Amino acid sequence: ISEATGSDRVIDFPALRAAGCPFDPPPDYRQESCPGPVVRARLWDGSLCTLVTGYEHVRSLLGDRRLSADVRAPGFPLLSRSRHELLGRSTVSFIRLDDAEHVRQRRMLMGGFIARRVEEMRPRIRQVVDETLDVFVEEGGPADLVAGFAVPVASRVIFELLGLPYEDHGFLLEHSRVMSRLDPDLDVLEAAIAALTEYLTDLAAHKRRSPDESVLGRLATREDVAAEELASMGRLLLTAGHWTTVDMTALGVLALLRHPVQADLLRADGDLAAGAVEELLRYLSILQIGVPRAALEDIDIDGTVIRAGEGVMLMLSTANRDAGMFPNGDRLDLTRDTRHHLAFSFGPHQCLGQALARAELQIALPTLLRRLPGLRLATPFEELRFQEDMVYGVDRLPVAW
Ligand code: HEM
Repeated sequence: ISEATGSDRVIDFPALRAAGCPFDPPPDYRQESCPGPVVRARLWDGSLCTLVTGYEHVRSLLGDRRLSADVRAPGFPLLSRSRHELLGRSTVSFIRLDDAEHVRQRRMLMGGFIARRVEEMRPRIRQVVDETLDVFVEEGGPADLVAGFAVPVASRVIFELLGLPYEDHGFLLEHSRVMSRLDPDLDVLEAAIAALTEYLTDLAAHKRRSPDESVLGRLATREDVAAEELASMGRLLLTAGHWTTVDMTALGVLALLRHPVQADLLRADGDLAAGAVEELLRYLSILQIGVPRAALEDIDIDGTVIRAGEGVMLMLSTANRDAGMFPNGDRLDLTRDTRHHLAFSFGPHQCLGQALARAELQIALPTLLRRLPGLRLATPFEELRFQEDMVYGVDRLPVAW
């Protein structure tokens, strides 16, 4: 809601998308509604922060050491009451740490996620996608594509990579779902963290006795990883690695169903899969709240100064629609060159699981389109409910074929 016009305008954050345009970022984040390189925003507690929305600025600030990713830095934008109250009550995961603390933990995981490891997993991902589709088709439509396809594919793959027993998926997904929310009840959030911590600590003890080659298996046998640190990494990987892929799969299918000519291109040409997935990642930019940072020094952005100690949100969604970088950026075009999109962020915190997410989407989306050529929505588009949360998605996607 605007308070003033022109450059004095302050919007409420997070803003809502426009009715009828569920794939587009909220109009309030757009530069045309607020001239200048930044948008001023008010958070839930009345504090102000600055949204950076254009491609060039977002990309350069994602790698700028004058901005801190440390959630404890003065002015760091805490986006909800429960996230604010949680501060100091739970171990900070490395996505919200800087420099040495961040790099130490990130490095421990690099080996488990490097492109080669994911390339080795491709045949297994293909098998998981095929088997999941067999069951989905056999059970018959109309059916919910989120529960019947997106969730089982993403969870089977991440569970195998991390070394989590699939029989515990109900428990693990319930609690990681809470952790993925922007503003769950503090009690529920703390209970989810405690349950996952206890589970992962027990699992690590078990893996120390019978080591395996999974990500958590290898972490468990390292002398330099404290139990609390292992649990914190496990919680982050499960949350960041599962629900993002689910949302991207379901929204990717929905975007293709709404753009049938594009879907036909993908169905007809297997070589288009890699580029198509990049374009869908750009177009949907599901981390809709953006990347939070705190300014450690004054930063001048084309004459607008962000002061040290102020909160900044680097808006991946608008950066990825910037017409200067992606002409006609509001159009989904699976054939465009979209390599430099920012959907996985950029710089020291860029997504650690991007190779895995790409592999899953590159296999899941074309396979689904080819095996179910008559795939269509089983409910009017206008009745779909979108989650306006940390990550954008649909809770249910009823389809028929
Ligand atoms: C970080 C997006 C899938 C693990 C990030 C960030 C983004 C992102 C934008 C940076 C966030 C920030 O700095 O605040 C996505 C999207 C995905 C996806 C769009 C799916 C389409 C995955 C998967 C995994 C994963 C499958 C794990 C297997 C991580 C981790 C980080 C991260 C561990 C933190 C990296 C660090 O701070 O150094 N992701 N992600 N993500 N992602 Fe992903």
